[in-house]
Amino acid sequence: MKSKFFVTTPIYYVNDAPHIGSACTTIAADIIARYHRLSGDEVFFLTGTDEHGAKIAQAAEKLRLSPQILCDQTAAKFEKAWKDLAIEYDYFIRTTHLEHVKEVCKLISKVYEKGDIYKKNYEGWYCVGCEAFKSDEELTDGHCPEHKPEQTVWQKEENYFFKLSKYVPQIIRLLEDEKTNYSFPLGRRAEILAKLKSGVDDISISRANVKWGIPIPWDPTQTIYVWFDALPNYYSATRFLEGKSDFWPADLHLVGKGINWFHTVFWQGMLLSAELPLPKKIFAHSHFNVDGAKMSKSLGNVITPSQLLNVFGVDATRYLIASSMPVFDDADIGITRFKEKFNADLANNLGNLVSRLSKLGEGLDIESSNLKQFDPEFRTLIDRVELPQAISWVFEQIINPINVKLNLDKPWTLDSASEERKNILRQAISQVLRGAWHLRPVMPQTSEEIWARLGLGKVVYKKEGLFPRLA
Ligand code: MSP
Repeated sequence: MKSKFFVTTPIYYVNDAPHIGSACTTIAADIIARYHRLSGDEVFFLTGTDEHGAKIAQAAEKLRLSPQILCDQTAAKFEKAWKDLAIEYDYFIRTTHLEHVKEVCKLISKVYEKGDIYKKNYEGWYCVGCEAFKSDEELTDGHCPEHKPEQTVWQKEENYFFKLSKYVPQIIRLLEDEKTNYSFPLGRRAEILAKLKSGVDDISISRANVKWGIPIPWDPTQTIYVWFDALPNYYSATRFLEGKSDFWPADLHLVGKGINWFHTVFWQGMLLSAELPLPKKIFAHSHFNVDGAKMSKSLGNVITPSQLLNVFGVDATRYLIASSMPVFDDADIGITRFKEKFNADLANNLGNLVSRLSKLGEGLDIESSNLKQFDPEFRTLIDRVELPQAISWVFEQIINPINVKLNLDKPWTLDSASEERKNILRQAISQVLRGAWHLRPVMPQTSEEIWARLGLGKVVYKKEGLFPRLA
């Protein structure tokens, strides 16, 4: 029987166009989804956009657009960017869609009926950029260090609160137990546990002054806090889409480290309260920096997917982003570095190897039926979301040894009709096909092209290289 695999990305805020940060998580999820499909699993890959809340309302106001128009425009930009990057998601969820809104209302009502929501006067600093209340310790010079100073505002309202503190002991137990720990990597889980143990307050889950949101079902004078509307997208899609109900609980929520707390603690609290199964794994990766600086609009160093696509094309862009993915630590990237990596790994190494072998082996018959299998070591790395390590493994264990062996065996010095030469080439070509199979989730078109040249019966030589060197 096929196994089911459900992977999600964060749903992205529509105040910003796609950049390589959002592309990184989405490409990573796509690689993992493709890997599972190629392994024979039944996959559900969900991505989408987060469209309600003060942050979006303010962005729309600045542009003199209605919030819904801004949402429609930006959601379309995300969908296009993902298509351009060959992202094969199964569904693009938008939180302004009625089906989602209905599911959020059902969920919050369930939590309310359980007695886990109460009303309270509250005042404190709120960062509209993060869409979150901030404690004094989280502020630098009186404002959130992640966003512009004017985005930190003093809020005083009567709000509905969710009894998050009630679930903290249970969340701690789940995270500390090896069998039930759902939060990875372990270093990040340790940060979360430390924060949980230092004491957690209940969380405000409604806004009296934000009109752009889902009204609270039992009190429409308030709207639902945007995170209480956004996090349930993962679950709501499995309710309103036909044939998807068995995919819950999700196998993997891929997120950036900045939103790990919301996923590892707040989302679990909501699910525990609603008595729903918890996701099996949340993986929080680090962030990209650009040439040593945090990527930000104000610094003007934001790299967009289309900038990379114009220079490198689809597969190489996917390759460069995935192989630089900041898994454990922040990673520094930049166009110059990407060019160097493109020339070294793809033009000079892989592309050149395919050209050489197809020329030397032109017309040879290759037996390739048993090569479409992933190595257990590679599988382990993908299962751990260590994508740069998985890609390096392919080069170190498969591609580079072929080059070393060819340079020792020197088949080009042997008689072209000799069996010895044919065997050397057959062996090398089989290994290239194996390498290309492992790279298929990352570079689907290139992998198919390598198979078309080397693996479908007789070897075909084509003059045009896979990755022409960049100046
Ligand atoms: N809307 C919320 C998520 C709700 S999920 C229920 C949100 N949106 S966001 O547009 O700000 O996207 C944040 C995500 O984008 C991060 O978690 C991460 O996946 C990705 N990245 C944003 N900047 C990034 C980098 N500089 N580097 C890598 N990924 C980053 O938060």
